Amino acid sequence: MENVLKKYEAVQMGVCYYPEHWDEALWEKDAAKMAETGVKVVRVGEFAWSRMEPTDGVFEFDWLDRAIDLFGRYGLDVVIGTPTHTPPRWLTTKHPDILPVMANGDLYQPGVRGHRCFNSRSLRSYGERLIDRLAQRYSRHPAVIGWQIDNEYGMLDSRGEQAAADFRDWLYRKYGTLERLNREWGTVVWSGEYSEWSEIVPPPASHRNENPSFLLDFARFQWDSVAQFQAWQIAAIRRHCPEHFITHNFHSYPQRLNMTEVGRGLDVAAFDYYPNTSPDKVTTGPYSGALSLDLTRGIKRRNFWIMEQLSGSPGSWFPMWRMPQPGYIRAFAWQAIARGADTVVHFRWRSANIGAEQFWHGLIDHSNVPGRRLKEFADLSAEVNRLAPKLAGTRPLVRAAILHSYEQLEALRIQAQAPGMDYYENIKAYHRALTKLGIGCDVIDAESADGLEAYDLVVAPHLYVLHEETAERLSRYAASGGTLLLTSRTGVKNSENVCVMTPLPGLLTECAGVTVREYDPLGEDVARLDTEEGGQFACSQWADILEPDDRAEVIARYGSEFFAGEAAVTRYPFGQGETYYLGTHPEESYLRQLFTQIAEAKNIPYFPELPMGVQVSLRGGGASGEPAYLFVLNLSREDKEVKLDLRADGRLRHLDGLNSLLGGGRTDRRLKLRPYGVEVLEYRPD
Ligand code: GAL
Repeated sequence: MENVLKKYEAVQMGVCYYPEHWDEALWEKDAAKMAETGVKVVRVGEFAWSRMEPTDGVFEFDWLDRAIDLFGRYGLDVVIGTPTHTPPRWLTTKHPDILPVMANGDLYQPGVRGHRCFNSRSLRSYGERLIDRLAQRYSRHPAVIGWQIDNEYGMLDSRGEQAAADFRDWLYRKYGTLERLNREWGTVVWSGEYSEWSEIVPPPASHRNENPSFLLDFARFQWDSVAQFQAWQIAAIRRHCPEHFITHNFHSYPQRLNMTEVGRGLDVAAFDYYPNTSPDKVTTGPYSGALSLDLTRGIKRRNFWIMEQLSGSPGSWFPMWRMPQPGYIRAFAWQAIARGADTVVHFRWRSANIGAEQFWHGLIDHSNVPGRRLKEFADLSAEVNRLAPKLAGTRPLVRAAILHSYEQLEALRIQAQAPGMDYYENIKAYHRALTKLGIGCDVIDAESADGLEAYDLVVAPHLYVLHEETAERLSRYAASGGTLLLTSRTGVKNSENVCVMTPLPGLLTECAGVTVREYDPLGEDVARLDTEEGGQFACSQWADILEPDDRAEVIARYGSEFFAGEAAVTRYPFGQGETYYLGTHPEESYLRQLFTQIAEAKNIPYFPELPMGVQVSLRGGGASGEPAYLFVLNLSREDKEVKLDLRADGRLRHLDGLNSLLGGGRTDRRLKLRPYGVEVLEYRPD
């Protein structure tokens, strides 16, 4: 076990490879080239069901044996994907219940991928039979180190008969009686009361304005369905391979899936990272990418894998994006590592010459002539392999957290609050403001994350559906010395997605030290926010008109609208800590100012002068005196000069003379980075 664990915690590079797509004569040359390129891990198998079981009950693993043996001979470790994402045609023909019924009632046909209903019993029995054989066969293979379950779950909103029956069971277990369900959901509205369980069917897509309690429960049921679909696969693998690790590759956030819940069954989370190369995304992309990476780290609250990383111009699903320019592949792989990725697996070794994804480019072009991108990847692998011993066992060191919530994501999708007000975009805004100050943060689950005392600052935007347990945990955190930041639309609903009959922020009123007297959904209209020091900022989306408690300090007021002069942002001393309440959505410069003040007050180190596009992160072992590694990344197309001035403990510290692990030599206080330039500096935080 120790050996395997070491491998999954190692900082290393990998590639995705599809032996079944290529003439076998190519395999050995490919494996040799991978080894020469510094690759340590290969992922295989996740779509290959029709080759593993070409007809019902006939299993053919010889080809996979040969491929895995070959990788082993070249010193490459292997992660096998279970192929349930693509059931073969013979199986879906025999058991059409495997195909998901989509929200519009259509059956999602085979031919693209992802044509599997998480609730299908046929998929489960055929899937278990195959995975059991796979796991048994490779349990002792020296090259195999772990498994990926399925591929990119996503949500197809399956509404087939089995899903409907499972939903009713789920509700029965939750509510016990229809009477209770009717009461909790408030179905009396519009004569929606159920008198038979069979009357409950999954919501059709056209019913966007159905009862919100019903819609939120349907989403929760779907999350559970995915977790169960994963659980039977994990059980089948663990039976034979107790020493292998198990992961899943999450993708494209925001994902309508409770990744924390699904992640519980996994040893390690993985993410498919395709930072957008389009010119209109070059400035914002690296910041949303940073959030995706932090969110993935938050799934297990530990380091993670990248299971697919951008290797060339993406296309096929849409006209192609720009080709990653020199330095791009390297810089974004380092960004992932800086934020806690250990293994980074690139998708894919070579661009496909067949099938639908011929223009989603790999490291090598169709010609099979190694080019610029493979060279960059090889240089990157050499660097990563060189630094791996230092980085092994380290993790991002952070002192702030953002609470992210699948419940809010879904509930606020079901009932959008104001034009332009988007839960995930707002999470991005808070995260971006922190990232631009070089303040690292964890992004963790609002409903389940414990251990908040480890953070000096907890930002908890829009806790709209507020569970009692969450409110208590947050109040305890603030009372015991933490700095908690709450925002508008907090405490609006109870767990059943029903509006509470108390002033807002509901269960967090005592902890916030304010109540909302009235609100105005500003939407895209822009109002003015005036700070007590005379600063003026724009705000939009929402305006809570606040009634502060006597002890609350008003730190900003509205400067326009009929509520000009009313409190908009407050700070309230609560127990040994404090709670900030932001009644509106301010422009970024206001958030920057606020976070700077909090960082100063709480001694959170930050970089006051990071240029746009430059990100820093710190990875270390956490013990004092141990070296940590400061990653400085220029994720922009321009040259940047970075003043390495860190503010901490009320003073400015110049980080010059640090040992540069990539460039060699010692850094100047002004670090010059070329477009997509990267530095990793050895640093001893004190
Ligand atoms: C991922 C998927 C891969 C490949 C890639 C490019 O979503 O897991 O198999 O399809 O995208 O589209």
